[in-house]
Amino acid sequence: MTATANTGGGSITISLDGTNKATTMKLLVGTVGPSVFDIRKLYDQLGVFTYDPGYGSTASCESKITYIDGDVGELLYRGYPIEQLAEQSNFLEVAHLLLNGELASGDKQKAFDDGVMRHTMLHEQIRRFFDGFRRDAHPMAVMCGVIGALSAFYHDSLDINDPEHRRISAFRMIAKVPTIAAWAYKYSIGQPFVYPRNDLGYVDNFLYMMNAVPTESYTVPPVLSRAMERWFILHADHEQNASSSTVRLAGSSGANPFACIAAGVASLWGPAHGGANEAVLKMLADIGHVDNIPQFLSEVKDKNNHTRLMGFGHRVYKNYDPRAKILQESAHAVLAELGIKDDPLLDLALALEKIALNDPYFVERKLYPNVDFYSGIILKAMGLPTSMFTVLFAVARTTGWISQWKEMIEDPSQRIGRPRQIYTGPARRDYAPAGKR
Ligand code: CMC
Repeated sequence: MTATANTGGGSITISLDGTNKATTMKLLVGTVGPSVFDIRKLYDQLGVFTYDPGYGSTASCESKITYIDGDVGELLYRGYPIEQLAEQSNFLEVAHLLLNGELASGDKQKAFDDGVMRHTMLHEQIRRFFDGFRRDAHPMAVMCGVIGALSAFYHDSLDINDPEHRRISAFRMIAKVPTIAAWAYKYSIGQPFVYPRNDLGYVDNFLYMMNAVPTESYTVPPVLSRAMERWFILHADHEQNASSSTVRLAGSSGANPFACIAAGVASLWGPAHGGANEAVLKMLADIGHVDNIPQFLSEVKDKNNHTRLMGFGHRVYKNYDPRAKILQESAHAVLAELGIKDDPLLDLALALEKIALNDPYFVERKLYPNVDFYSGIILKAMGLPTSMFTVLFAVARTTGWISQWKEMIEDPSQRIGRPRQIYTGPARRDYAPAGKR
């Protein structure tokens, strides 16, 4: 194979040695970030595929939603730095931004907020789904099941080619997932379900459904409200991560958005992805004491051992994840506001981070804390059980998933996602009857 690059013209020509086949691939240039070679004609013209398990060098789509610069540790939603949004915005404003491309103001944002909040209730029949689960079911299992079932209830908004159906489905998803999450929690602790209250707003309504009981009045403490608002903003989208790519791939076949989001929830659950926030807390509990950190890290570095330092490392960030930085700072603030003077878990996490960041194993591999390293410490301080951590991630990420899904459906170059393979199994051979094998 011979490749000739023409950087001036932004193209590369590849010819297959020994054949007269050649193809010219254009270099597509984004607003910021690495350019990409357009390989769409590669197979037609050369008869070969590219091989990239895990998509380390492959852009699967064009997107205008979220940008990550992994080398400097930068995250932008529609161009806005995550630090500014976390500090100054609110979750529904960010949801409008992600879904529609711009920050709204005044009546427009109010109409959006009302549009979402009007859909917080679940069809009453959905209540019965919960009874089918064991009380000790992991709430993520309940989330996968109940979210998948939504398409059985909202048939009137399933025409993916109708922009109004897409709008209503987006509102329904963003509004109903918190109710499902809160009910999964209530079910696990044996308390009555608390119906949504739209007057409270998105984040406070969620905390209300999680914490209120019918026997007492409950006011959401402002400190919890602020901390959760920020936590949700930080988790709202993260470009083509495993769960968002799952949502896009599922949706590329024309599947309805509720089914696609259920697929995203399943993908998020894994410990390499959203399940890491729960795994970090388990890891810290297992380590138990600062004195045990060296022993734990030697297990992590042992290639015969499958232990990983959870909450560390990222496919894209080769620097500090900006979300982890914000969460580390806000962990101190939230604990102080909650009146928690000393949190042994935070102390342990800080010591673990410091030791790891000075260890050649992590330095050489550019492994830094990711969003999940500090997020669970804040959630635990807020009184949330570990098993709910990934569920909360799903609640926040639903906005990103539905924005990615909508962008994909509206992209004229969208086709069914259908990766190819390099086949290494047996070549054609003849079947032999059982007695002749
Ligand atoms: N602990 C120990 N070693 C690690 C870790 C870790 N957390 N992460 C990566 N490595 C090592 C890995 O063993 C490999 O070493 P070597 O080159 O000697 O084989 C090298 O670093 C590169 O790792 P990789 O597995 O090829 O990297 P990846 O991009 O495929 O995986 C990751 C990214 C996030 C899955 C991985 O870093 C990981 O498993 N981290 C722990 C789980 C975690 O915190 N996940 C949350 C990710 S951020 C939020 C989200 O997506 O939801």
